[in-house]
Formats: sequence, C-alpha cells, structure tokens
Amino acid sequence: MNIHFETDTVLVRDFISTDANGIFDLDTDPDVMKFLGGVTLNELSEAQSLVDDIIWQYQEFGMGRLAIIHKGTDEFVGWTGIKRERKLRDFVYYDMGYRLRKKFWGQGIATDTARLSLNYGFNELNLKEINAAADMLHFASQKVLLKSGMQPHGTFYYLGEEHNWYSIDKKRWESLNFKT
Ligand SMILES: CC(C)(COP(=O)(O)OP(=O)(O)OC[C@H]1O[C@@H](n2cnc3c(N)ncnc32)[C@H](O)[C@@H]1OP(=O)(O)O)[C@@H](O)C(=O)NCCC(=O)NCCS
Repeated sequence: MNIHFETDTVLVRDFISTDANGIFDLDTDPDVMKFLGGVTLNELSEAQSLVDDIIWQYQEFGMGRLAIIHKGTDEFVGWTGIKRERKLRDFVYYDMGYRLRKKFWGQGIATDTARLSLNYGFNELNLKEINAAADMLHFASQKVLLKSGMQPHGTFYYLGEEHNWYSIDKKRWESLNFKT
C-alpha cells in the first residue's frame, strides 16, 4: 500500500479498488455534493468506475486524488490531492481538491491534508503552480484553500455557478514555511 503522507489522525494513500464502498458512501450524501452540482450516486458500480478512473490516472499522469484513512478506526474519511484537470476551465491545470464524509467535517482534516497535498505537489510531483476552484457560496472550502496558502485570482462560471479561482506557486509555498 502506497502511503504518501500522514497526520496524527489520518494517513493518505493511493486509492485501491475496494475503496469503492467509501466513495459510494461519500457521493450519495446530498450535503457532501451540495456545491458539486448536487448530483448523487445511485449505484455502487458508479463508485467503482470513479475509483478505477483514479487508479488509471496514477498510471497515465503519475498523480490523482488520494484516499484519506482514519488511523484509529481504519475508516474511509474521504479524499484529498492533486488532479490533472481540464473539465472546469478551457486549459489543463493541476487542481487541489478534497471531499470528506460529513462525520469528519470540522476537525481540521481537510486543511491539514490540503497543506500536505500541496507540499507533495511541489516537492514530489515537481509542479510549478497549483490551482483550485470553489463555488462563491462555499465558505468552508474557501477557508480551507486560504488556510492552505492559496490566493484568490478572480472568478469564472462553471455549470451556471460563479466560482472563485485560486492559485499558489512553489515560491509562495516555500515562503509560507508550513509545518508538514
Ligand atoms: C469543504 C470540506 C472539505 C471542509 O471540511 P472541514 O473538515 O470542515 O474543513 P476544516 O475543518 O479543515 O476547515 C474548515 C474551515 O471552514 C470553516 N467553516 C465551515 N463552515 C463554514 C461556513 N459555512 N462559513 C464560513 N466558514 C466555515 C471552519 O470553521 C474552518 O475554519 P477554522 O478552522 O478557521 O475554524 C467539507 O465541508 C466537505 O468535504 N464538503 C463536501 C465536498 C466539497 O464541497 N469539497 C470542496 C469542493 S470545492
């Protein structure tokens, strides 16, 4: 099992095929999907396709979302990490993203693992710049991005909703000197 980084409470590793159950639990919660188009999954097979696609991305691009696992209970917490993305904008970029099961919200896990993901992106994946997008009304996500050191750079529309656009480059990341 490929563990990339960890905090006191969670470890972050590559997805494995059996994580489909965790993804199904995550993506069938309407509160989780509220700022992500609001469409929830119906079938476990849809979750399996999502996991298979993430594993394909590891092979194709050398990166993709990573599974967050609770160290104490072994539960699937959600995911974090950098994805090569081109769906939201009309260009390819490296997207910082996260999605946690509701029972794990409000514990700082999103922020801690986002910072570690940025560190991984700059120092292991050797990226020059990492971006992120969040619905204008998604205040929790914007807080996570700001606390991770990302800076807002205007807005754009995706699926009819206005989104904030964020970026951070390696120079800024290093200047922040976060404990990772
Ligand atoms: C976004 C998400 C990952 C945040 O998870 P979390 O566990 O609450 O994140 P953290 O605990 O690290 O930090 C959240 C911060 O936002 C703040 N916050 C939460 N809800 C808020 C709200 N409605 N308005 C303003 N701030 C809010 C918290 O107080 C916290 O800040 P603080 O540490 O300064 O107090 C979680 O809500 C989630 O998984 N949502 C569903 C998926 C999703 O929307 N992903 C992002 C897509 S852009």
